[in-house]
Amino acid sequence: MSNALIIYGSTTGNTAYTAETIAAYLTANGGYEVSLKSVADIDVSELNDAWDLYLLGCSTWGEEEIELQEDFESFYEGLTGDLNLSGKKFAVFGCGDSSYEYFCGAVDVIEERVQKLGATLVADSLRIDGEPEEEEINEWTRDVIHGA
Ligand SMILES: Cc1cc2nc3c(=O)[nH]c(=O)nc-3n(C[C@H](O)[C@H](O)[C@H](O)COP(=O)(O)O)c2cc1C
Repeated sequence: MSNALIIYGSTTGNTAYTAETIAAYLTANGGYEVSLKSVADIDVSELNDAWDLYLLGCSTWGEEEIELQEDFESFYEGLTGDLNLSGKKFAVFGCGDSSYEYFCGAVDVIEERVQKLGATLVADSLRIDGEPEEEEINEWTRDVIHGA
């Protein structure tokens, strides 16, 4: 059985709901064993463990510039050149609001960083505009399963 680690940062619960929905779909339809963690409870060293798939979720804050969800900041700072993610499969998701200049900017920043560290993205990242909806999340998770 394949396993997946989902790490999320969420302030008002939207990205948390998205992460839970992804976890349920991966388990029920992808046959994955899933570990779902708030980014506040995890260290980047856990990216070195042998997970078949890593999913990172983060909402976007800030107005003039892109700010990651606050719990995600220190985790992101740990995503440095010391970490080699080559050969590892990743997918990135997050909630935002397209009325802001940098719609889901946190997703852009995270996907760029993990790719720089050698990770392979298994699907286009999921950028949710407004309230997350189960159907959109499930469709994306289906793509992730196919790409992984
Ligand atoms: C002060 C503030 C700044 C925000 N800045 C952005 C932004 O720059 N880009 C964006 O896409 N969404 C932005 N948002 C929208 C949030 O990302 C959105 O509400 C999201 O669903 C929150 O997800 P969470 O509940 O998982 O934290 C902002 C919201 C607030 C209240």
